[in-house]
Amino acid sequence: MNAFPRSASSPVLTAPGAPQASGTDFLPLKGTDHVEFYVGNARQAAYFYRTAFGMALVAYAGPETGQRDRASYVVQQGKIRFVLTTALRADHPIARHVARHGDGVHTIALWVEDARQAWEETTRRGAESVGEPQALKDENGHAVVASIRAYGDTIHTFVEREAYRGPFLPGFRAVSSDPVARPTGLRHIDHMVANVGWNEMEQWVDFYARVMGFSLYQHFDDKDISTEYSALMSKVMANGNGYVKFPINEPAEGKKRSQVEEYLDFYGGPGVQHIALATHDILHTVTTLRSQGVEFLRVPHTYYTELQGRVGRIDEPVDALEELGILVDRDDEGYMLQIFTRPVEDRPTLFFEIIQRKGSRSFGKGNFKALFEAIEREQAARGNL
Ligand code: FE2
Repeated sequence: MNAFPRSASSPVLTAPGAPQASGTDFLPLKGTDHVEFYVGNARQAAYFYRTAFGMALVAYAGPETGQRDRASYVVQQGKIRFVLTTALRADHPIARHVARHGDGVHTIALWVEDARQAWEETTRRGAESVGEPQALKDENGHAVVASIRAYGDTIHTFVEREAYRGPFLPGFRAVSSDPVARPTGLRHIDHMVANVGWNEMEQWVDFYARVMGFSLYQHFDDKDISTEYSALMSKVMANGNGYVKFPINEPAEGKKRSQVEEYLDFYGGPGVQHIALATHDILHTVTTLRSQGVEFLRVPHTYYTELQGRVGRIDEPVDALEELGILVDRDDEGYMLQIFTRPVEDRPTLFFEIIQRKGSRSFGKGNFKALFEAIEREQAARGNL
């Protein structure tokens, strides 16, 4: 999903890794550092990501470590690092965030060589600062963080950790082993998708291009697509080396109520719609996730009767894919396998994608129809279509 523009105007198309139009990359990113969720109960949310998604608890900060107003649990699997944070009192910005949005992503943190420079380059280009560069220190060294505002109440934090050897960031205490974590083979974040408001996509495409030096990602089709089922428009923005990819969706008029509109209503504005997690063995990963209670969207049997005709030869047995509900799409570079969870909160907001790439660098547009019909069935069951 998270798809394809009707026109590839505005930002310059640049191949990932290629020098940008301006010559040098003014915001070199080493990848996604972590994703911080503001939640109603961080201890229990962390338990969900440990037991269901198989992430290991590696660090903690809270009253016991001198952090009086909140508790944060850091869970990790491969290069994926999530921080689950909750406020300890009602009159706190985190509590207000949760009251408004429900559990959701507040911070997409980006790993940089120089956080001060990242903050200076982006604020100079119009980013709104929400946290000036700040050096954090403890016995494991020091790190520098700085933050700017993104869409809705979401922020980007630049994290410089070259001189830090601790488990996460200064102030966090290491958790040496996690007897609860049940690993599922998840490796890294492939992409993170934003839902923004009606007619706001171009404004955020422009933000990522102008303020952060991203460009429109070349590896998807820029032809018109039918919005009969999708009821959304999307463009994928990527940073210079292609490590960080942010598809941006806005709702569109369709036959039915847009899935993006449902999200905006329940999240209370723009925010992160889904996080795509990469695996090298999707059959194993999805089998394990399912056995640990993760719920996925299902597509009808006919999807699989038509599959081989559409994508040709693939390594995986079609009956195994059908059993798990895994989708496949092919482009001229190869193919990819993907599956989407149901929302992981009671509000129909954030969900996850599990993805395995076998050459393809695109986002599965061949699966739109089947996928959007599956989403619409769920919307109808919630009475929101
Ligand atoms: Fe996606």
